[in-house]
Amino acid sequence: MNDRVELLGAAKSLLPRAAAPYSAFRVAAALEDEGGTIHPGVNVESASFGLTICAERNALFGALARGATRFVRLAIAADRAKPVLPCGACRQVLLEYAPDLLLILESPDGSVEEVPLRDLLPRPFLSWNPRP
Ligand code: THU
Repeated sequence: MNDRVELLGAAKSLLPRAAAPYSAFRVAAALEDEGGTIHPGVNVESASFGLTICAERNALFGALARGATRFVRLAIAADRAKPVLPCGACRQVLLEYAPDLLLILESPDGSVEEVPLRDLLPRPFLSWNPRP
């Protein structure tokens, strides 16, 4: 298991890889699996704006493609002082694949906050999914 601060550091170090030419809002995510491997994600924007993918889903999809199945924590960093919380679409997808995920966020004062993903999406749509 990685230290929370280390995981946030991993997310921050990914920020230069974000491809955000339209919004200029860089976001990076570091997803820790149960074995302690950190899976990277950055936002990648398209000229066809709707095709943009958020850092959080990018991290999850890459991790799944690498064969990881169980996830523990997700640190999110942005190039702004205010912490970034996952958008609604990311909350939905993350919850389906990582229901017990803890989000690690940095507050403007530098303190590290831990937020259970479940708290951010009450009564989710999981009706045909056997996982609770
Ligand atoms: N974005 C993320 O990558 N994650 C979030 O949680 C919120 C939004 C990206 C998408 C887009 O590239 C840019 O931030 C502005 O919305």
